[in-house]
Amino acid sequence: MRLWPMSDLHLESTRGWDLPAGDARPDFDVMVLAGDLVPRMERGVKWLLERVPDRPVIYVAGNHEAYGTDIDRTLEKAQALAAGTNVHVLEKETVTIGDVTFAGCTMWTDFSINGDPYRGMAIAGERMNDFKKIRTASYQQRFLPHHALTRYRRSIDFLETELRKKRTGPFVIVTHHAPIPEMTSEPGGTGNDPTLDPAFRSDLRRLMAPAPDDGRGALLPADLWAFGHTHESFDQVIGSTRLVSNAKGYGPWPGQRTWDNPDFNEKLVIEI
Ligand SMILES: [Fe+2]
Ligand SMILES: [Fe+2]
Repeated sequence: MRLWPMSDLHLESTRGWDLPAGDARPDFDVMVLAGDLVPRMERGVKWLLERVPDRPVIYVAGNHEAYGTDIDRTLEKAQALAAGTNVHVLEKETVTIGDVTFAGCTMWTDFSINGDPYRGMAIAGERMNDFKKIRTASYQQRFLPHHALTRYRRSIDFLETELRKKRTGPFVIVTHHAPIPEMTSEPGGTGNDPTLDPAFRSDLRRLMAPAPDDGRGALLPADLWAFGHTHESFDQVIGSTRLVSNAKGYGPWPGQRTWDNPDFNEKLVIEI
């Protein structure tokens, strides 16, 4: 199966770029969109339905999908709009296409990769727009780091349960947040501020190696884990899992032709 993975298209900060169409579009079977397409996820679904009407799309929300809205309400609207179409909005859900199972969730982080999750949460809470621009509890509360941590724990439970189910075909995880503590040395979406890294990445390498039955079945790692959020390009096998990030990031800005991640490849297709 040929996958067309990308993330962080950030349509809200994009002028003069659009998804390759017609002959410029690569041959693919399933598009994989690992979040940060646009604030308000229902707008992202509409954008995808207009541009990719003829192939399955796996769409997972990034943090930006919830900006200016309620994190659960925008997901509900997106799922209502996507219901019965070729766009699969996944939040702790799976879908099987052909013999390939996709498991998707935004994921968030445990804020702990710098060794002190309390400090990680405090710094992220102070500095990150995620904890200023997102509402939760039916718009009643501001979304805070502890909400993100709860979502992270539920997401990891979901992923691990799925990885421990018996299966025969390939398995693909799609998350927005990064499942490894560090990637390249290239400057990325963390704004080069290592104190914010705990809000971008967590260390899930234990899910990339086989593990014995713990009562939920033996853990068989995913074949592929597509992610975004850090605005970097990444393609490496860790343990038994291939990790791929193909993020555009912000831009192009008016009058420019460049964007955050110069290595973004809008025609990247990978085989699984
Ligand atoms: Fe992003
Ligand atoms: Fe993001």
